Amino acid sequence: MGHRRRLILAIFIVFLFAFSSGRELKVTHKHIDHRPIYNHTLATILVEYASAVYMSDLTELFTWTCSRCNDLTEGFEIIELIIDIQHCLQAFVGVAKNLNAVVIAFRGTQEHSIQNWVEDLFWKQLDLNYPGMPDAMVHHGFYSAYHNTTLRPGILNAVKRAKDYYGDLDIMVTGHSMGGAMAAFCGLDLTVNHKAKNVMVMTFGQPRIGNADFVSYYSRLVPNTIRVTNGHDIVPHLPPYYSYFPQKTYHHFPREVWLYNIGLGSLVYRVEKVCDVTGEDPTCSRSVSGTSISDHLIYYGIDLRGKALNSCGIVMDSRVNEYGRTDIQGNFKLSRDPASPILKLKTDVNAGGNHG
Ligand SMILES: *[C@@H]1O[C@H](CO)[C@@H](O)[C@H](O)[C@H]1NC(C)=O
Ligand SMILES: *[C@@H]1O[C@H](CO)[C@@H](O)[C@H](O)[C@H]1NC(C)=O
Repeated sequence: MGHRRRLILAIFIVFLFAFSSGRELKVTHKHIDHRPIYNHTLATILVEYASAVYMSDLTELFTWTCSRCNDLTEGFEIIELIIDIQHCLQAFVGVAKNLNAVVIAFRGTQEHSIQNWVEDLFWKQLDLNYPGMPDAMVHHGFYSAYHNTTLRPGILNAVKRAKDYYGDLDIMVTGHSMGGAMAAFCGLDLTVNHKAKNVMVMTFGQPRIGNADFVSYYSRLVPNTIRVTNGHDIVPHLPPYYSYFPQKTYHHFPREVWLYNIGLGSLVYRVEKVCDVTGEDPTCSRSVSGTSISDHLIYYGIDLRGKALNSCGIVMDSRVNEYGRTDIQGNFKLSRDPASPILKLKTDVNAGGNHG
């Protein structure tokens, strides 16, 4: 009983700490209305988009009939699905009417060994000055995955088509792991270079992408950002943060929300802790060691693993051919006019038998 009382007290303190607004009030911010407010429901919806973008059957993805394309994302209409074969990247843009938003989702790495990818993260350099932002350094590889591939033009074009047709929708950008890094660059690009308003970014288990100067630009420009971390997930710990070299180290942007379990014996509680405005709250993910890859692969109970590891190829059948385009490098995209009716291929899939 004594244990239990202490546990309840501990949980109470955690909640008090997590949800007290005292810290936030100290922060003065120009865009006070855009302060990121963590919304659990929205997180559980967006994580399903971050999961679906891993699917490799493009027919099922484009028609939103894949095994991960249901539940809270039901009714989503993809208008652009982009596969950069050269760099093994995948992203989609579509409209979620229930959110009144354009949703953009980026796939994480499809490398055959997540272990190798994670080990490489230790050595990533701050080797690119973010254009137009003095002293802001980022990792070239993460930057280029969004900025120097077929993803960016495809996404920008699709966002424009969605806005032309639907009017001024919110824009929600999401992704897991490396896809979270790309989501952050995309949210920043839309805000800075395309004057998009109402951009929100929510990432799951993303690595650090830039230095403290980058973070101060980023958090001013895209304040509506939530960076979810989970338990001992190793990826948010990388590339490393060196507190002794504050001007030289990678630095996370806010606002972290750390998911973890607190419990004793059979009493386990899930805590979603909203962290401080620094991005490097020492009482959140950083309070534990990053030792887990399995914590990296499931967020909110949703599977964020790629289904076709070791494969960057295209799986597609002829029914969506008319929407497809391939460039000379072999990169591929499926595009749809938002004004044209939603694809009704589900019945065909049933009639045509299982091809997955
Ligand atoms: C949280 O997000 C959901 C889904 O977008 C929305 O319906 C709900 O109103 C939001 N809650 C708050 C408090 O903003
Ligand atoms: C963009 O990619 C091309 C080839 O993929 C490369 O030659 C070029 O240097 C890259 N540019 C930047 C700014 O990274």
